[in-house]
Formats: sequence, structure tokens, C-alpha cells
Amino acid sequence: MTKIPILRLVPQQKTTPPEEKTEEGNSQFGWEDKRVAETYNNYGQQFTMYKLTSEYLVDLVQISPGETIVDLACGTGITTTSALVRIGRTGEIFAIDMSGAMLEKAKLNVRAENIEFIQARSERIARVIPRKVDCVICNSAFWQFPQKEQTLRGIRQILKPEGRFVFNLPEQVFDFGNEDVKVKSTVTALNQEIEQELGSRNYTIEKPKHPTRRRYNYWFVIEMLGRTGFRVEKYDIFRFERPLEEIIEFFKIPTMGTPMLKSVPYEERVQVLNSVKEKLEEKGIKVFPSRWAYFVCRPIVHE
Ligand SMILES: C[S@@+](CC[C@H](N)C(=O)[O-])C[C@H]1O[C@@H](n2cnc3c(N)ncnc32)[C@H](O)[C@@H]1O
Repeated sequence: MTKIPILRLVPQQKTTPPEEKTEEGNSQFGWEDKRVAETYNNYGQQFTMYKLTSEYLVDLVQISPGETIVDLACGTGITTTSALVRIGRTGEIFAIDMSGAMLEKAKLNVRAENIEFIQARSERIARVIPRKVDCVICNSAFWQFPQKEQTLRGIRQILKPEGRFVFNLPEQVFDFGNEDVKVKSTVTALNQEIEQELGSRNYTIEKPKHPTRRRYNYWFVIEMLGRTGFRVEKYDIFRFERPLEEIIEFFKIPTMGTPMLKSVPYEERVQVLNSVKEKLEEKGIKVFPSRWAYFVCRPIVHE
């Protein structure tokens, strides 16, 4: 029997699907860069965002002791740590990432005999994982994969029939379909402040040709999962607040931030962000509401 997913706050209409990123598009993130790995690692140790989203992920998918898990796009090992606590000594984790620089950090951060780190791109998952697994977890990465459907088919291939796949998408790439005034106004205030600061430094701000960024929505995700052999068992929204200082440090990770900010030389970008922080503090903006969509999926099994 097909289970009906729990629907909450889903958009009424389908929107245009997001464009698939090309291989080159993906590499703009620069995850191979050692400075990216270093700043990401420092940020991850100092601030809670990736820990919170990882904890929510592993709780939602209900990992049990003894299970075999794949942590896809494990980065510096934050999600791997959350999973390790739940599987105990009898379980096993295969932690995959395409970036050698990120994996180097992960190997230092999470040391356990039952973790195997593998450097590979997501679409090669079925070639590098040696056996069927109970669960594939993917925190804060899915939208970055250039070949999403190939990756999903690979995940489907390595999952046991009763296995689960869980991933999440943040506000920036997921259209929640309802207007959240609080989220919108703080994000706008941040962007305006960044624009003003760059303008005062004689940077020309080019408005994007297509101001409404293409984003995923619920129905697009459901269809993509269906095409690749999955059904959604749970859809959930995780809300939390990010302190101003945390957002500012997040944008200091070279791969993060708007294209406008990424084009500024790094040292100046840090100055811009420090000044933006002061101005937002003066305006009394202390926290930024944040929303993430979570999908727990099961393989469709034909009897
Ligand atoms: C924002 S980090 C998330 C890391 C970790 N899951 C966490 O929550 O801290 C995104 C990670 O995805 C990895 N990544 C991006 N595209 C990938 C791909 N196609 N295949 C494998 N890893 C990829 C990057 O190297 C990076 O480590």
C-alpha cells in the first residue's frame, strides 16, 4: 500500500523546476579549496547551524544502533558525528565526499573504527559502496549535485528494500509556497546592507536579469523522487533562529554568499561583512529566522 505523505504548508502550484547545474557550475563552490575547508571547519566548530540541521536529520530518519549508514557529502564530518552517536559500535558508516580537503578535516574530527571515508562524487555512489545499506543521509548538499537523478538512482540501488534516504533543502533553494514576512524582511535587510556597503566602495551592483531565482518546490521534489524510484514518507519543516554574528561568519566561508559578494576580493569581503554587522546591530537586528525542508524517502518496492 502506498503511504500518503504528511503535507504541511506545501505550495498550491508547481513552479518551474530549477535548472540542473553543470559540472562547472558545481565547481564554483570551490569545495576542493583548502581555505574553504579551513573556514568551513572553524565555522562548524564555533556555530551550531550544521549541527542543528544534522541532528534534526538523523532524528527524523530514526537511525538505530547497528545500522549501516551512508553519509553522502559528509564534508568535515558534522553529520557523520551525529549518525555515529546513534549507530553505536555495532553499526557502520560510509562517509562520502568529492572534496579531499573537506575529507581531510573529517578524518581528524571523527575518529572511529566503524567509519570508512571515501572520496567520490555523489553520482558514483553505487560504484563505491560495497553492499546494501539501511539508510543514506545527506545534510545541506543535495541541491549542489550536478546530476541529481543519477545520484538518486544510485542511492536507490544501494538501499535495502526497507531502507531510507533523508535529505534537506534550505530556504534559499526551496520555495515554501507561503510568504513568511519575518524571514523575508530580515533577509532583505541583510542584502540591502551588503549592497549599500559595496556601493559605498564603488562596486557596481548589477541586478540579476531574472530577479525571481528558480527554486525547488514540494511538487517538483516529489516528482523527481517518483521518477527515480522513491516515495516520500515524511515531509517536515525545521525552523530555528540564526544569530547575526553567526550569519556574518557564515558569509566569510568563501563558497557562501551571493554572487555579488563572491566577486569581491576575500580580505575586502571580510571588511564589508564586519561593517554590515555593525550597521544591522545599530538597527536592532539580532537574529535571522531560518527554514529547512526535510524529506524522508523510501524505495518504491514492486511486489
Ligand atoms: C555544506 S557542505 C555539507 C557537509 C556536511 N553534510 C555538513 O552538514 O556539515 C556540502 C558538502 O557537499 C559536498 N559536495 C558537493 N557536491 C558534491 C558531489 N557532487 N558529490 C559529493 N560531494 C559533494 C562538498 O564537497 C561539501 O563537503
